[in-house]
Amino acid sequence: MSVHEAIALRRDVRAEFSGDPIDDATLMRILGSAHRAPSVGNTQPWDFVVVRDPATLDRFAGHVADKRRAFAESLPPERKDTFNPIKIEGIRESRTGVVVTYDGSRGGPNVLGRHTIEDTGLFSAVLAIQNLWLAAVSEGIGVGWVSFYDEDFLADLVAIPAPVRPIAWLCVGPVTGFQQVPDLERFGWRGRRPLEDAVHLERFRS
Ligand SMILES: Cc1cc2nc3c(=O)[nH]c(=O)nc-3n(C[C@H](O)[C@H](O)[C@H](O)COP(=O)(O)O)c2cc1C
Repeated sequence: MSVHEAIALRRDVRAEFSGDPIDDATLMRILGSAHRAPSVGNTQPWDFVVVRDPATLDRFAGHVADKRRAFAESLPPERKDTFNPIKIEGIRESRTGVVVTYDGSRGGPNVLGRHTIEDTGLFSAVLAIQNLWLAAVSEGIGVGWVSFYDEDFLADLVAIPAPVRPIAWLCVGPVTGFQQVPDLERFGWRGRRPLEDAVHLERFRS
């Protein structure tokens, strides 16, 4: 599969996990690709916590369900109706969670490139996630990013020490297939922008 093909096939997966767990060798290959991401000052500020204990998956799923309920309650009635049928996680069904963390202190105070733009550290960790996501697609493995959580809850759940931050819970597992259209578009929540709207010539504002 070419990189372009993997990018075109990639979806955020919630409902299509087969229920089988990903095997260790495949998971380590995918994490190996994540770990090859570029990073500011070559700091590699990420770590990966692999979570498979059903009790931990249950605890996290319960917390996420609370956050989902709170979000639904915050919505105006017509948006609530659109939101209700949308699945926002596959924590239990995927059988494996990968918590990606970000350590903003890695490399010390004189990181080449981060000295001007602090956020470049975080950008680097997110690039590792994108590598992971695309490598997973090339192996027929689905990934779903869950962000409906309190950072303190997740840090406590999987023993992440400050100042390291959990920046993503990724549901990772074999899938029955990939949807062609993003769920949020299929369910009428929000569609994608045309490329022409995102590309600017010479100046952002004309
Ligand atoms: C930073 C980030 C956080 C996200 N958080 C969630 C989430 O909590 N639950 C969810 O169902 N999808 C989440 N998504 C997935 C997006 O909804 C999805 O990427 C977007 O709708 C486009 O769909 P696609 O990834 O299938 O192309 C997240 C994606 C990103 C990049």
